Amino acid sequence: MRHVLAFALLLVSTAAAATRLVDLPPLHHPVNIKPVESMQLPESFILNHRGEIVCETCHGIEDIEDIPFAEVDKHVAEFLREGPYAKTTVFCYRCHEEKDYRRKNIHDLLDAQGKYDEKACEYCHQKALDPDQAYTREQLKLRLPAETLCPGCHLRTPHLNAFNHLVKPDKKMRRRMLASERKLGIVLPLDQQGRIMCVTCHSSHERGLIAESKPAGKQVVGDLKEGVVYEDHPWDSVYRADKQARLEELSGKAAPVTLYYRRLRSEVLLRLSAKDGALCLACHEFER
Ligand code: HEC
Ligand code: HEC
Ligand code: HEC
Ligand code: HEC
Ligand code: HEC
Ligand code: HEC
Repeated sequence: MRHVLAFALLLVSTAAAATRLVDLPPLHHPVNIKPVESMQLPESFILNHRGEIVCETCHGIEDIEDIPFAEVDKHVAEFLREGPYAKTTVFCYRCHEEKDYRRKNIHDLLDAQGKYDEKACEYCHQKALDPDQAYTREQLKLRLPAETLCPGCHLRTPHLNAFNHLVKPDKKMRRRMLASERKLGIVLPLDQQGRIMCVTCHSSHERGLIAESKPAGKQVVGDLKEGVVYEDHPWDSVYRADKQARLEELSGKAAPVTLYYRRLRSEVLLRLSAKDGALCLACHEFER
């Protein structure tokens, strides 16, 4: 394919009309290709005279092709045009249709009739289980230990406070967790070493796959298609102004860091709601 060739080596004509070969960083997006008709580029994403995407289409750094890759400052806002972007995918969707590029959501297990495809279960289980049966932990036959299953597709630090939670709760908290499990009819499973893991807080299945009357089936109501949605909070600017000064002090002249204070609007795949604090209170005891 033409793109594949363009991937490794490409011809760039400079303003002086001299022609030279330029390498691209590994796994970099292809260049010198024409957007298909259906693709709508933002106005400031300029094309070359042949209507192809070039370095300047995506990068707001002048003559980026002449700078050694190691010296390109990836932290300036315009490194990606009209940036900075919270996630790289947000940038991709400036040109690509989001719905075409979303990964298949494997938690979305039930079809409109409430039926499921056993193959989908086998992403995580060696063999599809029966949602109406009771199983011991050993009988779940997970392809990987539960604590390593999720980071296969998700980051180990998918959100603030995830990574520092993967520890062993002390005796007092353990007692509180057991009491919460009984009182609220939920499970808060720990890994083989007794540590918190992703599925301590998260359920793996779409709501309804496992009956809500079973502890493993209890989870928040939410729209899997929509996913987790945060909304801007009126305090955001106050929060940022307060934090920004301290952050700048900490980071000196290094990469600017921006924190946002955002509120959860809708949540999915959680055993209890975090919006109202119920999840946190299943383990933590806060002064009131
Ligand atoms: C379709 C958009 C697009 C085009 C066109 C494009 N880039 Fe990129 N470039 C990206 C994205 C996205 C990244 C990765 C950003 C990240 O990792 O956050 C990137 C990363 C880079 C990096 C940093 C690599 C690293 O990891 O250190 C360099 C250097 C770079 N591009 C140079 C170029 C050059 C030179 C051209 C033109 C020959 C070019 N890019 C064209 C989108 C593009
Ligand atoms: C400036 C617009 C633009 C941006 C931003 C952009 N792309 Fe593309 N991308 C294109 C065009 C144009 C093509 C080639 C035509 C097509 O496939 O529609 C393409 C093709 C692709 C392809 C197919 C490559 C092939 O060899 O067939 C993939 C995969 C891709 N882009 C992923 C991404 C990802 C991931 C990002 C974000 C990091 C991104 N794109 C950002 C314009 C863009
Ligand atoms: C993303 C990975 C993943 C997928 C996909 C998945 N499961 Fe699971 N499943 C798990 C994990 C992890 C557990 C154990 C969680 C725990 O310890 O509570 C589990 C536990 C179960 C249990 C035991 C519940 C209980 O009562 O303790 C059943 C039944 C089950 N899964 C059925 C299914 C079926 C049926 C499918 C396909 C429609 C499926 N799973 C797809 C990860 C997955
Ligand atoms: C085979 C890959 C795969 C595995 C394994 C997997 N996930 Fe996912 N997960 C996805 C995809 C794809 C989505 C849809 C959103 C996206 O593209 O990030 C998703 C969405 C989610 C979401 C909702 C985020 C949102 O905004 O939609 C949560 C929470 C989540 N996964 C937790 C887990 C947990 C916990 C495990 C381990 C039991 C797990 N995932 C295992 C691929 C996977
Ligand atoms: C202490 C509880 C807890 C643990 C442990 C935890 N999470 Fe979360 N996670 C949450 C909460 C709360 C949210 C936000 C609300 C929601 O999911 O609906 C969240 C959100 C997510 C999202 C969506 C993020 C977004 O912004 O779109 C993903 C993906 C996710 N978690 C994956 C994981 C994975 C993978 C692990 C294990 C490495 C993990 N979580 C560990 C509580 C936890
Ligand atoms: C499954 C039990 C569990 C749940 C649910 C849980 N936590 Fe934790 N949390 C812990 C453990 C264990 C620690 C580490 C020991 C400690 O600091 O007490 C911790 C530590 C923390 C810390 C200190 C982090 C640090 O870096 O020192 C904060 C803040 C926190 N949790 C907030 C929350 C919030 C907010 C929620 C709800 C979204 C939540 N936790 C849900 C068990 C849990």
